Amino acid sequence: MTSTTIIPDPDRNLALELVRTTEAAAMSAARQMGRGDKIAADQAAVNAMRLMFNTVDMDGIVVIGEGEKDEAPMLFNGERLGTGALPQVDIAVDPIDGTRLTALGLPGAVAVVALAERGTMYNPKHLVYANKIAVGPRARGTIDINAPVKDNLVKVAKALGKDLHDLTVVILDRDRHKNLIRDVRECGARIKLISDGDVAGALSTVFSDTGEDILMGIGGSPEAVITAAALKCVGGELQCKMWARDEKERLKALDFDIDLNRVLTTNDLVAGNNVFFAATGITDGQLVGGVRYEGNSIHTSSIVMRSLTGTIRRIESQHFLDKLNLVTNIYDQA
Ligand code: FBP
Repeated sequence: MTSTTIIPDPDRNLALELVRTTEAAAMSAARQMGRGDKIAADQAAVNAMRLMFNTVDMDGIVVIGEGEKDEAPMLFNGERLGTGALPQVDIAVDPIDGTRLTALGLPGAVAVVALAERGTMYNPKHLVYANKIAVGPRARGTIDINAPVKDNLVKVAKALGKDLHDLTVVILDRDRHKNLIRDVRECGARIKLISDGDVAGALSTVFSDTGEDILMGIGGSPEAVITAAALKCVGGELQCKMWARDEKERLKALDFDIDLNRVLTTNDLVAGNNVFFAATGITDGQLVGGVRYEGNSIHTSSIVMRSLTGTIRRIESQHFLDKLNLVTNIYDQA
């Protein structure tokens, strides 16, 4: 360290306030678990998240809102959140990543939020899908979305000190991934097919105890930005290319001057250097446990991260319904 190095005093970690928004969304959405109603689950999560957001001292604009693809009730793009006080931030939300998982009571649904300095988050516009490749910090610098599948897998396996046959690739179980799945199988690597939830899928590559090493394939573009924020916090890496579903979307991309061949890096998706991320489990998953109800109390499990320090916190909370009901009836809407 030189004598001119200025070390700022530790400042506010907004992620510790954000986690209240994801806890609130998870507690409300989890009431809908297994009820078969995606819209009701999303609406519950959105309402609770919005309520808590407006307690946070910040001037936030939603850049990545959920719902365009699914026509779900959303925290819409351009919506202002927070008390209006500084700092000015961009917000990416997914009140439920895994609405189907929640509605069917399947594992892996999470409520997620990311913040970064104003003007630093990528806006995918009308393009709701992106082709992604993501790894945790131990394999950063080894991926190339334009390279053949095998090249990526060999390099990631080497970085992780694994045999290629022991490598686990997380892929959304979709028909569009037929060739990708075939290529991975031909390499001899293992595959974990997930029915939904590629934010948690990508994030699971960060933690060696999940046994998941790399995420590949086409998923939501909002989820790509949220994943980039999360991976930026921990030094992981995501590359993606926006993906048009059809000719109409492709032509519209040309109108907007969006190059579908452009490789977007973690920093292209989230350019800010003060990034905050929080996620709370709705249903049980590899990353975080789901919401549990025990008599009067509700238990939540969250992960909270910040890019500036790289700190990763796991927060287990116990909430008391009788006391919460004195403040809001949002958690009682079963
Ligand atoms: P939502 O629950 O927010 O709808 O997203 C679930 C999800 O599986 C994402 O994790 C993923 O990026 C996207 O949907 C994939 O889209 P599709 O289901 O249309 O293939």
